[in-house]
Amino acid sequence: MELHAMDLYIKSLIKEAGHRIRNSFISDITIETKSDANDLVTNIDKEIEQFFIERIRRDYPGHRIFGEEGFGDDIQHLEGVVWMLDPIDGTMNFVHQKRNFAISLGVYENGTGQLGYIYDVVNDDLYYAVRGEGAYYNDEKLKPLIDTSIAESIVAINASWLAPNRYLDHEAAIRLVQTVRGTRSYGSAALELAFLASGRIDAYVSMRLSPWDIAGGAVIAGEVGAVMTNFKGEAANLLKQDTFIAANPSIHNIMLSDYIRLK
Ligand code: IPD
Ligand code: CA
Ligand code: CA
Repeated sequence: MELHAMDLYIKSLIKEAGHRIRNSFISDITIETKSDANDLVTNIDKEIEQFFIERIRRDYPGHRIFGEEGFGDDIQHLEGVVWMLDPIDGTMNFVHQKRNFAISLGVYENGTGQLGYIYDVVNDDLYYAVRGEGAYYNDEKLKPLIDTSIAESIVAINASWLAPNRYLDHEAAIRLVQTVRGTRSYGSAALELAFLASGRIDAYVSMRLSPWDIAGGAVIAGEVGAVMTNFKGEAANLLKQDTFIAANPSIHNIMLSDYIRLK
């Protein structure tokens, strides 16, 4: 794969998609629900995914596409080149706030992330990485993550996991919230990974993420040294929905051993 040519191509594609999303703000948006009443999808999510897929199929025939809205290919393995796309990550924010959402895209070759992009559409901020060449926030090269401690960390976690629930030991999660310097919840996994990569938060945990939520961010955050696994400490799942933690390497182990525990 000629990564640098693809990198330029993808940046231009993402910017065009972002332009289309910003233009949609002045039109009526159709909102539907998916797995539950709070799992939203709009006509814009679908149109943007179709826009990417048409272009990628025309310009990179032979590559496969794993897209959230289902217009791509049925992906059961990661051989060859697979583009993993979330056309709008943070749809609830897109619908309710018209901000705090992103386009997320990762390009993987035989299961290894080669290119990663997270585009904060409203702020026109692009986070990206070419494997082995470091990660960038617009024109700024991101620094490798420096060691920290739990007590000095800002952790992104959804508040719902602090209430009694069937899946996570909420008392351990409460101890985490009491121990860290601060918590945040942005409502877009892609942006949370971008913020981890840029040192604005130190860890992000989620009970349920899909490959397209993490594919772009994993390449970017990996370039600055973040560690990404499921809650069992296994490699992040790029084929199926799973638990997910991304963290500064100095706190990843203690997060899993002491605070983020499945029931
Ligand atoms: C969602 C967002 C959210 C995360 C959910 C994802 P969507 O993606 O990333 O922050 O908590 O698990 O499904 O549905 O807005 O693309
Ligand atoms: Ca998503
Ligand atoms: Ca989405």
